[in-house]
Amino acid sequence: MNSFFALCIAITSTILVVAVQKGQYHSSSSKDLETKALILSGWWDSYDTKNFSLDHCKWPGVTCNNGGYVIGINSELAYLSKPSFEKLNLLTFRHLVRVHIHGCQLGERIPTQIGALSELTYLNLSTNFLTGGLPLSIGNLTKLETLDISFNHISGSILPEVRNLRNLVALDLSWNSLNGSIPSQIGALLKLEILRLKANNINGHLPVSLGNLTKLEILDISSNQISGSIPAEIGNLSHLTYLNLQWNEIGGAIPSTLCQLTSLKALQLSLNEINGSIPTNIGNLTKLIYLHLESNKIMGSIPFSFYKLTNLVDLLLDSNQISGSIQKEIEMLKDLISLNLSNNKIHGVIPKELGQLTHLRYLDLSSNQLSCHIPLELGQLTKLIHLDFSSNQLSGQLQLELGHLPMLMFLSLSNNSLSGQIPYPHPDTTYFDLQTLILCNNRFSGTIPVQIAKLASIQQIDLSGNSIQGQIPVGLGEGENAVFLDINLSHNNLSGPIPQSLVYLRSLNLSYNALEGPIPLNIWRKFPVSIFFNNNLVYDSTYCPPFAHDQNPIRTKKKHQINIKIFLPLVVVVLVFVGFLLLYKLKSNKANPDQPPATKQGDTFKIWNFDGKIAYENIMEATEDFDIRYCIGTGGYGSVYKAELPNGRVVALKKLHKLEGENPMYDKCFKNEAKILSQIRHQNIVKLFGYCLHKRCMFLIYDYMERGSLFCALRYEHEALELGWVKRVNVVKSIAHALSYMHHDCTPPILHRDVSTNNILLDSKFEARLSDFGIARVLNPDSSNQTQIAGTRGYIAPELAYTMIINEKCDVYSFGVIALETISGSHPGEFIPSIARRSAAENVILQDFLDKRLPPPADLRVATDIVRVVSIALACLNPDPKSRPWMKEVSQEFLDNNPPKLSRPLHNLSMSELMN
Ligand SMILES: *[C@@H]1O[C@H](CO)[C@@H](O)[C@H](O)[C@H]1NC(C)=O
Ligand SMILES: *[C@@H]1O[C@H](CO)[C@@H](O)[C@H](O)[C@H]1NC(C)=O
Ligand SMILES: *[C@@H]1O[C@H](CO)[C@@H](O)[C@H](O)[C@H]1NC(C)=O
Ligand SMILES: *[C@@H]1O[C@H](CO)[C@@H](O)[C@H](O)[C@H]1NC(C)=O
Ligand SMILES: *[C@@H]1O[C@H](CO)[C@@H](O)[C@H](O)[C@H]1NC(C)=O
Ligand SMILES: *[C@@H]1O[C@H](CO)[C@@H](O)[C@H](O)[C@H]1NC(C)=O
Ligand SMILES: *[C@@H]1O[C@H](CO)[C@@H](O)[C@H](O)[C@H]1NC(C)=O
Repeated sequence: MNSFFALCIAITSTILVVAVQKGQYHSSSSKDLETKALILSGWWDSYDTKNFSLDHCKWPGVTCNNGGYVIGINSELAYLSKPSFEKLNLLTFRHLVRVHIHGCQLGERIPTQIGALSELTYLNLSTNFLTGGLPLSIGNLTKLETLDISFNHISGSILPEVRNLRNLVALDLSWNSLNGSIPSQIGALLKLEILRLKANNINGHLPVSLGNLTKLEILDISSNQISGSIPAEIGNLSHLTYLNLQWNEIGGAIPSTLCQLTSLKALQLSLNEINGSIPTNIGNLTKLIYLHLESNKIMGSIPFSFYKLTNLVDLLLDSNQISGSIQKEIEMLKDLISLNLSNNKIHGVIPKELGQLTHLRYLDLSSNQLSCHIPLELGQLTKLIHLDFSSNQLSGQLQLELGHLPMLMFLSLSNNSLSGQIPYPHPDTTYFDLQTLILCNNRFSGTIPVQIAKLASIQQIDLSGNSIQGQIPVGLGEGENAVFLDINLSHNNLSGPIPQSLVYLRSLNLSYNALEGPIPLNIWRKFPVSIFFNNNLVYDSTYCPPFAHDQNPIRTKKKHQINIKIFLPLVVVVLVFVGFLLLYKLKSNKANPDQPPATKQGDTFKIWNFDGKIAYENIMEATEDFDIRYCIGTGGYGSVYKAELPNGRVVALKKLHKLEGENPMYDKCFKNEAKILSQIRHQNIVKLFGYCLHKRCMFLIYDYMERGSLFCALRYEHEALELGWVKRVNVVKSIAHALSYMHHDCTPPILHRDVSTNNILLDSKFEARLSDFGIARVLNPDSSNQTQIAGTRGYIAPELAYTMIINEKCDVYSFGVIALETISGSHPGEFIPSIARRSAAENVILQDFLDKRLPPPADLRVATDIVRVVSIALACLNPDPKSRPWMKEVSQEFLDNNPPKLSRPLHNLSMSELMN
């Protein structure tokens, strides 16, 4: 045999593999069988076979014992090509001790033969898309010390057979789809130090036998559906350092025995139904670093011993029913970085000792009953990034100078009774990161410091509902980032004129003041009219002309020469195009009139779908040079005009305001929309008929949609009533089909990025079309698709806040919002965050969620359709983008004409039941 091998070494192994596959390779010893099985597995095919040694023990990722038998396979040390258990005959490798196959996309079931590997001590199959259940035979692996099958799609329940794995030290089954309850037999794994079952669908109670696992150091059963209470026996796990039960449905009180776990560093019980008060001996857990009890039903006051937890870094007690006051001993918690006590019933004052916690970066005491003034000592918290004292009963003058908190990004003091001057940045501060400043609904007086709007990063200033006087400072809105800045000055005592500089702001509200004089034309055009209400402003009928007449290119003689320069090429382009169209028509005899002509870059005027007789002049005639009488609305960056063309067709023209035409950002959006819309065609996407993209006059020509936006239709009672259940369901379906088309039928896929009810238009029959493709983007498969956040507030997927990477799932999220909004009649707002917390959604009955202006759906078919829309919407709003469905799946689901029958009437169905 040896000589046979010696001979073979000279031959390349490619030939060998061929030989083996043809069955010409004969060997008898079990070691040879192992070589053969490894070659046949094909896992090592990616290696350069020229220098591939025949001694499989030297292959990367393969370990042998002294006898030459394979005892370890480790994918981390090799580049395995398409490994699969199907091709690897496990029964050959009886000596295997360690199997570590991680991130190999196996995508199959765990083979039953695994139970034959009786010597295994380490089995790590994490992140492999494994499916099916845990094989029964796994109970045969009695020598196993580590079992890690996390991050797969394993379903079924945890088998009682685990009791045989008596040598297990680490068991990790997290991030799978396991259901059923935790078997009490788990209490037999007396050597267990690590137990992770996070993110499955495990239900039932925590077994009392967990108390047997006295060596446990890490216990993580978070993100499941565990109910019942925490067993007192948990107090026996004296080595526990990390206990995470958050995001379950656990009730009852925190057992006092928990205070015996003096090694605990992290205790996370948030997002459950825990009631009762915090145990008085909690101060025994002196090693605690993270204490997360938020979003429960915990009552009573913070026990005194609490202030012994001097190692705490993260303390989250928000959204409970905690009462009492904050003691001055809070100063003991010197290491705190995050402190959140918001949404409780805490009263009394903010102790000045809080100013001693100089590591604090996040401080939220909002929505409590705190009173009196904000202590000056808080100015020492120089590392603060987020400070929220809103919705309390704080009073007195604010003496906090913003410049003293140089890292602050978010400051909200809204809904208190604070008085004094609006704080402004300290002149010494050169760099200041403040993004959000919310001081609304207080008693601030004095004038607006112009400096606040010039902060480099500022995005939102809300000073509404105060007693601010004087004029709006000239120059407000001139900061570099004004285009991203929202300013609300409504409900104050501001007087004087509106300064021109406000036009650069992203949004503005000036209503309910004493402002006077005429509204500057450009400001009038940019913002909705409601922002001017309840002032002494002058409205003038000349306020909505397209552009002043002396600039009109056609009628003004003085500028005629310049105009010829501009319009001659335009007319030539139009003529050539018309000629081309005629030719095309003669030749193809109207082969496919719906197909837009291929757009060449640089073309300024294009129009299609018509018989070729429409030209730039016709548009001008139809709108009398964009006369105010044809203006039907003013949007974000343009006005919309309605025009009837010579052929009788009614179109909508979206025209960029002249002033904004000079802003490169708007210019880009306009061109982007023209480009994308001329490439796609779908019955539920607004039809673009043509465009004019010329510096002087930019407009897009669309199908006219009689009923305007879905947003408005839902807001006006009369129209909301007309938009009955069947029509609403159809609206949602139509948008699903449109998005599915953009994501899955266009190559490369197109993302809309601004799906909102504002951008869904309705025709005379309430058929919906998706519109406004200004920031839509072609998904480039080669680039990173990193982006600035864009879109409409309230519709933007939460992950964009931290990943900045866009993909289809961002649109899917926005779709979820508009679907819920369509069914409920208003933006679901606060309801969306509660979806993540299933138990909160449990209290919402579907019937109560439906738009109350409409009679409840009488027809069973309609009711079934509504349930389908809501369940799909909830899936689309999953905080984890990966768990959201693709638009294609949504669209297909809607195409299914036989949805599952309703199990119960709507008034009996809770929202959480629709979440599966
Ligand atoms: C092939 O040769 C290279 C360079 O000598 C070496 O790094 C590599 O490990 C060899 N491959 C195998 C499978 O032995
Ligand atoms: C597991 O062990 C049982 C006996 O305890 C045996 O019958 C069965 O064949 C074994 N399973 C495997 C896959 O080896
Ligand atoms: C399993 O493998 C992964 C990837 O190598 C590793 O991060 C993880 O810690 C391993 N699990 C155990 C329990 O050793
Ligand atoms: C667990 O899931 C499986 C399929 O994944 C299903 O057949 C079974 O009924 C579920 N069991 C429970 C208790 O929900
Ligand atoms: C827990 O341990 C006790 C002895 O320490 C043992 O009798 C009991 O069977 C164990 N429970 C389980 C569920 O294995
Ligand atoms: C475990 O805890 C329970 C309840 O706290 C207690 O009665 C029991 O004696 C403890 N068992 C051990 C072995 O400490
Ligand atoms: C916890 O602290 C209390 C006093 O605060 C003490 O009486 C008790 O013995 C301590 N328990 C443990 C387990 O340390």
